Amino acid sequence: MPVRLHVNIDHVATVRNARGTRYPDPIYAAHVCEAAGADGITAHLREDRRHIKDDDVERLRASITSHLNLECAATDEMRQIAERVVPDTVTLVPERRQERTTEGGLDVAGQRDAVEAFVSMCRKVGIRASLFIAPDEDSVQLAHALGAEQVELHTGEYCHACEPGKKHERGTELERLARATELARSLGLEVAAGHGLTRHNVGSVVAIPGVSEVNIGHSVIADAVFLGLAEAVRQLRASIDRHAFLA
Ligand code: PXP
Repeated sequence: MPVRLHVNIDHVATVRNARGTRYPDPIYAAHVCEAAGADGITAHLREDRRHIKDDDVERLRASITSHLNLECAATDEMRQIAERVVPDTVTLVPERRQERTTEGGLDVAGQRDAVEAFVSMCRKVGIRASLFIAPDEDSVQLAHALGAEQVELHTGEYCHACEPGKKHERGTELERLARATELARSLGLEVAAGHGLTRHNVGSVVAIPGVSEVNIGHSVIADAVFLGLAEAVRQLRASIDRHAFLA
């Protein structure tokens, strides 16, 4: 089975917002990504609206033809937005104002009531509910208990371990991801992965049996500076397909 690629276009909005212009337009970027082989588009509506804005979400919903994955925190405000917009998937993520990006997995136990309310709204209106969690057994079990259909495993630790000088930790992190994937699949959950992935380190993740989707943002937009967005997506797609095929 091919592994689905969802491209996160938040940082196109980051560049736009840096100057308060209308360009580069993240919705146009989403269309370029789709045409270049992305299976879906991911956008994170943060509480502080630092990149994606409400209007971007509405425009994405109205115009993309693939799959819309809305990332957001499990708050009442975001629940109301998701219920109105009805993305194909909602991925619940932790959010702290001071962080540069989503720095850890969701504290599912600590936010149990809010997550449960969000997941139950999703089930009611037909949105696939995904929880962005650390690759550990307790989080997977809890995600299943709260009715999520998918977990997205945080690959940040694996990506750190891919940096020079840390090779010995790479295998350990891959094993954690593989064990969490196996458990999630045995419970009937779909498994996505994301955070920090690049066309160079994604191969070992998509080769894990049971991983069916990756969400990738920062590295694609960074590659686009040198390659152009369509070529950056094509190269990422080729890397994913090559490794998933060999697995
Ligand atoms: N998946 C989730 C749930 C995220 O919050 C993020 C970051 O917004 C990503 C994937 C993409 O991470 P990156 O930008 O490092 O590829």
